[in-house]
Amino acid sequence: MATDTTQKQEARLRGAAKVDFTTPLHTSVLENKTAIITGGASGIGLGIAAALSQYGVRVGILDINEEAGLRAQRDLSIAGGGTVKYFHTDVTSWDSQLAAFKEVLAWSGNTLDIVIPSAGVRSHNMRDLVYDQLADLTRDPTRPPTTTFDVNLRGTYYTTYLALTYLTRFASQPSSMEREFKPQLLFMASLAGYAEQSLSADYAATKYGVRGMWKAIRSQGKLFGGCQANLLAPGFVHTDAGAGKEEREEKHGIVGVKAAKTEDVVEGAVRCVCDGGVEGMFFSILLFFGPGGIGPDKKGMADGDWWIARAVCCVQGEEGRPGCNNFDLCDNMEDFNGGKVLLDAIRGGVLGRFGGKEWFGDGGFILRVYIHFPLFSICFTTSYIPEYECFKSLQIFNFWREKLRTVKTNCAL
Ligand SMILES: NC(=O)c1ccc[n+]([C@@H]2O[C@H](COP(=O)([O-])OP(=O)(O)OC[C@H]3O[C@@H](n4cnc5c(N)ncnc54)[C@H](O)[C@@H]3O)[C@@H](O)[C@H]2O)c1
Repeated sequence: MATDTTQKQEARLRGAAKVDFTTPLHTSVLENKTAIITGGASGIGLGIAAALSQYGVRVGILDINEEAGLRAQRDLSIAGGGTVKYFHTDVTSWDSQLAAFKEVLAWSGNTLDIVIPSAGVRSHNMRDLVYDQLADLTRDPTRPPTTTFDVNLRGTYYTTYLALTYLTRFASQPSSMEREFKPQLLFMASLAGYAEQSLSADYAATKYGVRGMWKAIRSQGKLFGGCQANLLAPGFVHTDAGAGKEEREEKHGIVGVKAAKTEDVVEGAVRCVCDGGVEGMFFSILLFFGPGGIGPDKKGMADGDWWIARAVCCVQGEEGRPGCNNFDLCDNMEDFNGGKVLLDAIRGGVLGRFGGKEWFGDGGFILRVYIHFPLFSICFTTSYIPEYECFKSLQIFNFWREKLRTVKTNCAL
């Protein structure tokens, strides 16, 4: 038993642990819990707030947008479930976050169980920032904006620190001894914290940073009241800050990946906070698609596409359900099933044309040739990006069929 636990822990730290989406969710454990969700007035944060309140959680929404925050408070209160209250907060300000945490705790009777730092803002395009400086070559360059760092990184750091402090304080109280529910800290990174998102230097830096923060905490939960620290790394999601609209997808010519829905992220979040087996783990929320989409029947997809999707994603929720697009994206960059394959796929063009038309101009193409052998296959990928006026390097993927089959059938450790 002890060995089993140790193996699981090691697997988590190696990034080889898999989320078992077949484990039933016991949402009843969430009843009467208290959650703080920063950025909970809209988008992903709002979706999570709505779901948690439906499961009986008392949700404190900390957000800078007062109008949206009060609207969320009203709408979610009408929807029933746990109570929801908005607390005006600027996460970049220490005083503001401290005051908001104290207000939430006064409201909840000094209980806190779940903290989700979801407040975030988008990037500034490095090309635009630099090209703006070309208008007057005699002028000193102006200071670049740092709001993305302030909100996404400093804000998350303050939230994390406050969460761990209060969770540790509460854990030292005698009344907490009977608690079975492990306190939850759920970080919100992005696929941009794992892979290249060209020109989004500030956003990518903050999401890599959030991932670093999570890695620093996730194996040390015992020090902080037994806190479980997981991380979500969504790809494009249809929210104000995300892909937004179908037209945007079309305009940017996103190839190989489609924006996920907020419900998919919400499903992942709920899985993290109420599944005791999901500890120190992360997963991405990502939609891959071929001409006919992705499904067990591989309808409309080239064999290789399917393989890439499966190799990257490892584990998938039940088809057709919300959350079926939540994937346990292995965190180990060198692991066969993990980030290395994702990165290769990105560089090879499977995801590489995020913003394709706008960034690289029209006329690019991706060519993939698969050669199948009885035990493995090789995929040569070449993409031509007009703006770079060159062929990107040749990519070779090895997909060991036997290993892949093992991954498909053996989701849980
Ligand atoms: N939508 C996507 O495609 C996507 C993909 C990956 C990761 N994410 C991450 O998910 C999180 C939520 O994104 P979203 O798409 O729901 O965005 P959103 O814009 O819908 O929500 C972000 C919320 O953060 C709030 N906020 C911004 N600055 C704040 C501040 N200084 N203090 C307090 N609140 C502040 C906003 O008012 C808003 O309510 C972000 O961290 C984002 O980086 C989003």
